[in-house]
Amino acid sequence: MSQKFAAVKGMNDLFAPRIETWQYLERTARELFSTWGYSEIRTPIVEDTALFVRSVGEVTDIVSKEMYTFDDKGGRSITMRPENTAPAVRAYIENGFAQQPVTRWYYLGPMFRYERMKTGRYRQFYQLGAEAYGPADASQDAENIALAWSYLKAIGVPHVKLHLNSLGDAGDRPKYLEALKAHFAPHVATFSEASKETFERNTMRLLDTKEEALKPLVDSAPSIGDFIGDAARAHFEEVKALLTAMGIPFTLDPRLVRGLDYYTRTTFEFIYEPEGENSLGTAGTVCGGGRYDNLVKELGGPDKPAVGFAMGLDRLEILLDALGKRQERRPLLFIATMDGELKVAAIKLVTDLRNQGLAVDFDPRGGKIKRQVERASAVKARHFVVYGQAEHETRSFKIKNMDLPDSDPNKEVTVPLDGLAGWLLNVSKAAPVTTTP
Ligand code: HAM
Repeated sequence: MSQKFAAVKGMNDLFAPRIETWQYLERTARELFSTWGYSEIRTPIVEDTALFVRSVGEVTDIVSKEMYTFDDKGGRSITMRPENTAPAVRAYIENGFAQQPVTRWYYLGPMFRYERMKTGRYRQFYQLGAEAYGPADASQDAENIALAWSYLKAIGVPHVKLHLNSLGDAGDRPKYLEALKAHFAPHVATFSEASKETFERNTMRLLDTKEEALKPLVDSAPSIGDFIGDAARAHFEEVKALLTAMGIPFTLDPRLVRGLDYYTRTTFEFIYEPEGENSLGTAGTVCGGGRYDNLVKELGGPDKPAVGFAMGLDRLEILLDALGKRQERRPLLFIATMDGELKVAAIKLVTDLRNQGLAVDFDPRGGKIKRQVERASAVKARHFVVYGQAEHETRSFKIKNMDLPDSDPNKEVTVPLDGLAGWLLNVSKAAPVTTTP
């Protein structure tokens, strides 16, 4: 008996045509991040569970509710990475990079969180992240934020707003938490069970609440900005001045506390806000990051400050699609084949052209020319030609432009066989194989 299977809930298969946009996002990232002096780091999908408990924080939603944790065959507790900052720090320490003054890494890959699903929120999702270790200087924060900004510009996502905050230094936190608890405490009896729990376990996360009833109380809550020390304050002023100098606009957001425990000083998010506000909900938050000056030390390394961010590639792909900026692959030429030795010659030509890096397609089923034209349309070929007896003998091709109407005088061009590769190269320069439709 056969049995049918479905993908695990919240985990998606990715394939054409949407995969073209994914690959475009990845390609653009690799080029840009490398230009900015970030090199790639690839860490394993699974890590020691304790790494995340220790870094992301025991009381965070990620660690307390969302991790894919299990015992391996050797009885060790391992976790499928819910994020990649902690694994990158682990690799940084373990491989001796902390000896170097500056290390800049980027990564691309799947992360796993057992979250409630909706558009833009999945259980296997993909992050593009960039981390810089070593410099404590505000210019490192600004550079890292500018990289995220430039990337969003490069891929053509408009209307993203940078939300910016400073959480101060670790020593500033207890005084703030005390004030926050005192603010919320008189009202806790009226809270939902979930909010009561957040109040007890991780009070700062109440600032992030989605519960409308709590919003007025959140609005009147004390601001972290009033509790941060002089050094962190001066650092934040410098970050803001640098961003202004670089022409990167930002909004100060004193409620931006982020969902992971390791942050110190600068925190930020990029949110898609086309009409001044986030109309996409969850999917609108495309990037989050900040400074984490104590994490390297807390994970057993030397005292090395760091700053970084991660973007949700699923969300960027959804955005580009919604904006009509998806990518599409279009073969330059579709060669229709006849039977017998003509088919052999045609397939040889297809292979020769492909080996020269030219995207040429054919239908191995052959058959009626009408059906091969349909196939050429289905794969969105730009041009179409039949490799027939006349073409074989005259070494010359009558190539049809699939995008033009039959009445157009440029509908058909004649190209000699020995000029075909050069002609296709010019076509690909004018309209690359993968483009925005
Ligand atoms: P995060 O805010 O948890 O931060 O995630 C960063 C981004 O990943 C989010 O803004 C969102 O675009 C995407 N994302 C998160 N969860 C999901 C999900 N379930 N489905 C789809 N997309 C998602 C971090 O992970 C930090 N490690 C960022 C960082 C790097 N901080 C410093 N360095």
